[in-house]
Amino acid sequence: IKIDIIGAPTAFGQPKLGVSLGPDAVRLCGLKARLTALGHEVSDKGNVYGKYRAEYGNHSERNEEGLMNFVQVKDFSEVLANTVEASLNDKHFPFIVGGDHSLSIGSISGITKKYSNLGVLWIDAHGDINNSDTSPTGNIHGMPLGVLLGEGSRRLVDIHHEGAKLKHENIVLIGVRDLDTGEKAYIKEHGIKCYTMSDVKRLGLDAVITKALKHLESCDGIHLSLDVDSLDPLEIQGTGTKVDGGIFLSDMLSGLNILSSTKRLVSADLVEVNPLIDNCNETAEKAVILSEYIFGQSQI
Ligand code: ARG
Ligand code: MN
Ligand code: MN
Ligand code: MN
Repeated sequence: IKIDIIGAPTAFGQPKLGVSLGPDAVRLCGLKARLTALGHEVSDKGNVYGKYRAEYGNHSERNEEGLMNFVQVKDFSEVLANTVEASLNDKHFPFIVGGDHSLSIGSISGITKKYSNLGVLWIDAHGDINNSDTSPTGNIHGMPLGVLLGEGSRRLVDIHHEGAKLKHENIVLIGVRDLDTGEKAYIKEHGIKCYTMSDVKRLGLDAVITKALKHLESCDGIHLSLDVDSLDPLEIQGTGTKVDGGIFLSDMLSGLNILSSTKRLVSADLVEVNPLIDNCNETAEKAVILSEYIFGQSQI
């Protein structure tokens, strides 16, 4: 595969300092060389920047729609969407390394112009399916799926191209264990496919991924959005919203192996690596191991 590594150093979707350093922390663990070693043609496109720099930590207050850092998130999303779209036009695989999960508004907006029936595997401790009306925090990293489904603030929904980017039936949530009240209601109301952490424990992640792929059978491509907080905090320290009782790395690698062997992935996000709250950059190291499995590493 021709992989474009696209650094998305945003932190505007949440309040903690350091997540904008995620892309460079992952690069320091040898991302490009290690994907190249798997036989891919890898190009590091560097970091995407909008008009604002997240490193300076200007987390502000909620705007009139209840959104934190709305202007910065919108600006960043537009630039990222264009970068991702250009990568697809080159027939490359855009691999977006974050940065907080608000970046998926931009990445998926850039993908869905080409893939109008995109399927999304959202592996996360959270649903990230709030919107400006339901969010308890105003943090946009808790809203990307809500926004991409066309809910809440029009100004966020209409980023890159007008209207909803995803269909409810084309999303599968996996590993979820911390949903807000409004998110639970929304998932039920729209019948969104959701494998909670208890489902993962009961069925095993391999079986869940297999079922999810079946659910997305009619999609024209599959996008993986992998939040490192889906993993158990015993193994992942460097992320801003840890929730106990998550997926263990070895299980995740096995699940990713199933996913990558289908060759149906067209793009992926790897998000929420925060080296400032990590232990010796080990979360970034694990993020690179996850990346190797997304791109076809196997035991033999
Ligand atoms: N549900 C919470 C919120 O809306 C937490 C979201 C955490 N999201 C994440 N991408 N880590 O604020
Ligand atoms: Mn090329
Ligand atoms: Mn998330
Ligand atoms: Mn999360």
